[in-house]
Amino acid sequence: STLKDAFQKKFLIGTALNAPQIMGRDSATMQVVKTHFNSIVAENIMKSGMLQPREGDFRFDLADQFVEFGEENNMRIHGHTLVWHSQAPRWFFTDEEGNEVSPELLTERMRKHIYTVVERYKGRVHSWDVVNEAILDDGNYRNSKFYQILGKDFIKLAFQFAHEADPDAELYYNDFSMSQPGKREGVVKMVKELQEQGIQIDGIGMQGHISLEHPEIEEFEKSIQAFSELGVQVMVTELDLSVLPSPWNRDAGANISDNVDYQNKMNPYPDGLPDSVEEAFDDRYLEFFKLFIKYEDEISRVTLWGVNDSNSWKNGWPIRGRTDYPLLFDRENKAKPIVEKLIRVA
Ligand code: XIL
Repeated sequence: STLKDAFQKKFLIGTALNAPQIMGRDSATMQVVKTHFNSIVAENIMKSGMLQPREGDFRFDLADQFVEFGEENNMRIHGHTLVWHSQAPRWFFTDEEGNEVSPELLTERMRKHIYTVVERYKGRVHSWDVVNEAILDDGNYRNSKFYQILGKDFIKLAFQFAHEADPDAELYYNDFSMSQPGKREGVVKMVKELQEQGIQIDGIGMQGHISLEHPEIEEFEKSIQAFSELGVQVMVTELDLSVLPSPWNRDAGANISDNVDYQNKMNPYPDGLPDSVEEAFDDRYLEFFKLFIKYEDEISRVTLWGVNDSNSWKNGWPIRGRTDYPLLFDRENKAKPIVEKLIRVA
């Protein structure tokens, strides 16, 4: 059996692809993608800095190939991401004189970027992360360039433009730390405001960058409930499970570079995961998937942030050079024991 077949009646099982896979340089990984997944998202190549590195200079080669692969394999294609403060090109926020853009010019640039990208894939890309990571853990708006220049209206504008460009596309808000009570409340408030203004928003993506300790699953569940009560779909996006110690203790406000103990743990498992860690890894994934199954009517898609451990961003984040084991397939593209366990609980 396969993951996508096992979960077919519950939710889509997605994965993220990068340039090497899309360009056909990694056929072993692509075989796993075709076997186990029925939805794809681009991990990087549809971000604004990649699609429009210079003003008006759109680069669609890789994105086109990504969309073609999804269509050839009958996959649900998700677009990530239209408006995000990170991996956005610098020119976006600067005018011809090198000054900060005016609200009018930034609005025009957002409109042009969103129209060009969304119209190109109209009817082919099913859904878009229209805005990514606009709210902080405490529920306040992130003080990004978009927010500094346009205030919170940049969110509304982005959703409007995306809807105008493809009225049939599903439009989502996506963010991390969604289990934090402050962020949960901030997102609920923001979505309600959009709904009250008649703006179409179809779903909320909860990034699932979890670790063995964080977050508390009860808090994650509360957010699934709170978001689905808004009448929108809930997606678990960007799921991966780090087995390495967290570099900081957010609550204590500790700084990553002060954490000497962490620095010494770049590759604590050179011979692979010890049984005890693998057991904790399996239990943690199972616990989360059981929660997703409990909310199968609310959750429409669960997307892993990558296919195998060798192509996971977790090896390079939050600091470079770690060796992590966050995904469902190992560095040789072999299914880990967790895959069979997930298929059994589905
Ligand atoms: C990450 C990618 O995985 C990395 O390859 C890249 O270097 C940085 O971005 N939140 C998001 C994703 O919405 O786009 C980020 O992806 C991870 C955090």
